[in-house]
Amino acid sequence: MAVGSAALEFTPDVEALTAPVWEKVRTRVTPIEWRLHAPLIAEINRLKREKKAVILAHNYMTPEIFHGVGDFVGDSLGLAREAAKTPARIIVQAGVQFMAETSKVLCPDKTVLIPDLRAGCSLAASITAADVRLIKERYPGVPVVTYVNTTAEVKAEADLCCTSANAVQVVEVAARTAGSDRVILLPDEFLARNVARQTSVRIVAWAGRCEVHERFDADDIRQVREAWPNAEILAHPECPTEVLELVDFAGSTSAMSDYVVKRQPRQVVLITECSMADNIAAEAPATEFLRPCNLCPHMKRITLENIHEALVRERLRGRSRAGDHRARAARGPTDDRPAASRAAGPLRSRQGAPPRRRGADLIRFAAAAA
Ligand code: 13P
Ligand code: SF4
Repeated sequence: MAVGSAALEFTPDVEALTAPVWEKVRTRVTPIEWRLHAPLIAEINRLKREKKAVILAHNYMTPEIFHGVGDFVGDSLGLAREAAKTPARIIVQAGVQFMAETSKVLCPDKTVLIPDLRAGCSLAASITAADVRLIKERYPGVPVVTYVNTTAEVKAEADLCCTSANAVQVVEVAARTAGSDRVILLPDEFLARNVARQTSVRIVAWAGRCEVHERFDADDIRQVREAWPNAEILAHPECPTEVLELVDFAGSTSAMSDYVVKRQPRQVVLITECSMADNIAAEAPATEFLRPCNLCPHMKRITLENIHEALVRERLRGRSRAGDHRARAARGPTDDRPAASRAAGPLRSRQGAPPRRRGADLIRFAAAAA
């Protein structure tokens, strides 16, 4: 139950205030659910104004969060870019821990709230900073690129950081600037394989997997094709390679969303987390979404109730304390050069090995790389 929810009722004022949101979600949310969501949406939006807070909502949030309270919505790259430029005092991360850490690293002086500290990620949990140090010992001189779905300590061990939207470009920059024909790309085994298909750089991978996307296989895609031969099939690059070889388009959550909104296909299948289709539906009213999807249990820990609680309490359960600590670990020594020159600066040190980059620089680089 939400903090102070006794006062939150579905009054005619709340109904009028939230009517535009209801129009966007009415095909995905029942009228009974709406009577519970609408008062929370109205109150969260009031609290945001009062406390100078913004909510950064990932594409996998449920529609009442995504359309109701998200100030900025998008993929992990887009949310990192918004975090870096927001003038807000408080950032509420409607997403998972590594996203909150990314925001904290980029905005060390702001309060970053994650509504449920248990919102993890199987990829981020698959590797530690000690693992990365061991890999680097085994492959001396080979640059390390970490996926943004990692802890700040792991990023602090890397040379560059990427997201699903720019992994190929970042790997190629890492190889070129280090003068290496190989790059270590951690921790997603499937993202690494999928990047390897698109570049001549040799990829050293780790065995991490996204528990949502690893569950799709080639048989799923064949069955979908047989059942809906005219549907366009889109998949996230965290899916196994055998899946990506059979689909029409692979891209980050925002790339998939842009594809559907721009092209408005008659039928579409999104091989990814279930809320994606719910959220895009408002922008593609003529598209029929066919639904073999999987839920991310971590993303689903975020609710309107705990977003409200995080904003009310501000410093208690919602505070990303782990994020604060890790952000300090990732920032390392202060670097006064402008972010752009750091991002563009050479990777190779005078000794020929890539210098160690810290979390804030890495994430700025990931956010700058198109
Ligand atoms: P995107 O960067 O594509 O939004 O991916 C984040 C994520 O966690 C997908 O599983
Ligand atoms: Fe992590 Fe996969 Fe969930 Fe994304 S969908 S947060 S990669 S477990």
